[in-house]
Amino acid sequence: MILKDAKKLDISYIPQKILCRENEIKALRLYMKSGRAIISGGIGTGKTLLAKHFGGSEHIDAYINCYINRTEHRILEEIIHQIKPNFHTAGLTTLALWKEIEDGRTIILDEIDGMLPDELRHFSYTLSRLKESGKEIRYIAITRSANILRQVIGDDAIWSTFADKAIVSLNYYTWDEIKKIVDYRAGEAIRRDAYNDDILSLIADITLKSPGHMRTAMDILRNASMIAENNGNDEILPEHVREANQEGWLSGIDNLKKNERIVLLSIANACKNRAYAEKKEIEEQIKIKSEEYGIKIYNSDKIIETLMREDFIYKGNNGYTILNYPCNEIIKRMENFNE
Ligand SMILES: Nc1ncnc2c1ncn2[C@@H]1O[C@H](COP(=O)(O)OP(=O)(O)OP(=O)(O)O)[C@@H](O)[C@H]1O
Ligand SMILES: [Mg+2]
Repeated sequence: MILKDAKKLDISYIPQKILCRENEIKALRLYMKSGRAIISGGIGTGKTLLAKHFGGSEHIDAYINCYINRTEHRILEEIIHQIKPNFHTAGLTTLALWKEIEDGRTIILDEIDGMLPDELRHFSYTLSRLKESGKEIRYIAITRSANILRQVIGDDAIWSTFADKAIVSLNYYTWDEIKKIVDYRAGEAIRRDAYNDDILSLIADITLKSPGHMRTAMDILRNASMIAENNGNDEILPEHVREANQEGWLSGIDNLKKNERIVLLSIANACKNRAYAEKKEIEEQIKIKSEEYGIKIYNSDKIIETLMREDFIYKGNNGYTILNYPCNEIIKRMENFNE
């Protein structure tokens, strides 16, 4: 058994700690003293987690995803459903809905840039001006980009009351930070001796290149543990991580030149039982494989560069590796290829 508690890898699970975001947590707490904050950051930078985590120390009355509820009316209905589950909102005007939300409530508006632009303008205006009528609804609004949000809102006066300079910006995690976070999350969900530092490094390499960032890291971690478990292994192997990250590119192998194939095969051989290989080991494999197939390789460095550029292989901090496909699959594929 590898997984201790698979639920702890779910996207909706809120871990006890958020690592590497100490300053951002402080900033959010500070801004929320005045009752409003914007969290801004790219995909998978931990925006949703940060906002929900804030709810661990303060009560959150409603969490709304504004991509799903794209109009002011739908958002208000959704807030009221969460605050007063038995209240019927059908037929009420938007103004009447606003009146149903009492002073002092705290809401999270996730993916607020998912609202229809006119709706967003009117909603943010109304929300930020409530204070003037003696009522306050506290909010954390989440966006992939505060700059774009500002442009969509379009009106500097609305923007400045809505955002109130209370913007918490989340940068992408670095390689070391990703490793640390994945280690922490793995420690909660997976048996300690079922993964090692190399596995964390491979996941960090994949994450840095991926548009889904930490979202991808968590997916790979979960899938790799399930693959390992289904295969009957008692630990996650590099090949399981590669399989978890498998993409459809292997078809591209057919377009490679003969000498490129030999080099790729050699690297797959060098990496099949481990996460990373050194240049020297790859060169030894190239020697063996070029003799085996009777193909001379003259400029392996250049071929390695081409393969890197085309995403077949990857050079990380720890050496050369293959990230997008199990090495054994590549080897099988090459062996079936007679030329
Ligand atoms: N600092 C961290 N510590 C622990 N887990 C983290 C951290 N940052 C992100 N995660 C985890 O990474 C995953 C992605 O984070 P989250 O969903 O909060 O990102 P997001 O910025 O909201 O992404 P999106 O823009 O796609 O909505 C989640 O499983 C989350 O729990
Ligand atoms: Mg999110």
